[in-house]
Amino acid sequence: MDNQLETFDIQGFCNDLTQWYQENKRDLPWREDQDPYKIWVSEIMLQQTRVDTVIPYFNRFISLFPTPKALADAKEETVLKAWEGLGYYSRARNLQAAVKEVSESYGGIVPNTKQEVLKLKGVGPYTAGAITSIAYNRPEAAVDGNVMRVVSRLMTIYDDISKVTTRKRFENIIEDMVIHTEPSDFNQGLMELGALICTPKSPSCLICPVQQHCSAREEGVQDLLPVKAKKKPPKTKAMKAVVLQNSSGQVLIERRPDTGLLAKLWQFPNCEDDSPKGEELQRYLAEREVSAPKALENVQHVRHVFSHIVWEIDVFTGVVPEEGKLPETLKWVNKEEVDKYPFPVSHQKIIDYVIKGEV
Ligand code: ADE
Repeated sequence: MDNQLETFDIQGFCNDLTQWYQENKRDLPWREDQDPYKIWVSEIMLQQTRVDTVIPYFNRFISLFPTPKALADAKEETVLKAWEGLGYYSRARNLQAAVKEVSESYGGIVPNTKQEVLKLKGVGPYTAGAITSIAYNRPEAAVDGNVMRVVSRLMTIYDDISKVTTRKRFENIIEDMVIHTEPSDFNQGLMELGALICTPKSPSCLICPVQQHCSAREEGVQDLLPVKAKKKPPKTKAMKAVVLQNSSGQVLIERRPDTGLLAKLWQFPNCEDDSPKGEELQRYLAEREVSAPKALENVQHVRHVFSHIVWEIDVFTGVVPEEGKLPETLKWVNKEEVDKYPFPVSHQKIIDYVIKGEV
């Protein structure tokens, strides 16, 4: 047992936390029942995305794909379209691959052990613990950044939470607590406390339901915790993109590769290019057998910040003759049809400004 637990009132803490959760939990759409599939979808969406953002996506996604089977049978592009704007699109592709496996290997029922759930694509220890504890009330840990923040304060643990060994330490601590209580309410109580009270900045210690258990509050060090190593600042990439029109007024779109950043989404032809005249973009088009437009006009600048890179995109327009044969990944589409394809947010900004004329 962790030495910080030896002097900790586990039972008292569990009781106070779960009681507070039961009386104060928010009405969230994935809390309406204990359907493991819905909880799974919600947990995947909630990774790196705020609750307020997730709610409308979750509701739409569940009405489009109400069961694992419905999601397994859907076209991948339909799934990506439903995910459009949420970011981290591999989450959607992995989720679909995983529900296919649930359909094939588990008769369409989400398995009820952490071990089995952990084997599904895109599911790590946090998600496996969250699904099995919330849906099946299994005594498992579900440790994410929010839970580490809460517990690091509760027990004044100064370990760097960006390290894997630290997450393991917190998992062991939670495993030693969750066996003494209702696992579903306890884990959701930790998440809820982190979201509503034990917030990253200015935590509301005065109204905290577990303040008498909290050693950071006792020592007045809640603002120093958790300890997290600074990540490197994102690298900036200068990009050029082009909206090409043909004589029928169609625009050229391109499907991104099957792997890597924003895999399988659609975009306007673009590449990294910091030359003033756009030589890289010209080369990019030539490689794809798109004839060079006579003139390119710079019409927009789009900045998009990912967690690890920043795209600074200069957007051009140009007119080219209708092409003979294009590579499979390129396609002329009518402007009204562009919306049917899933695009990254940065290219949606191009659609809104260049194609729809909205700002
Ligand atoms: N964040 C991650 N999982 C959550 C959940 N089930 N409810 C609210 N916030 C969450």
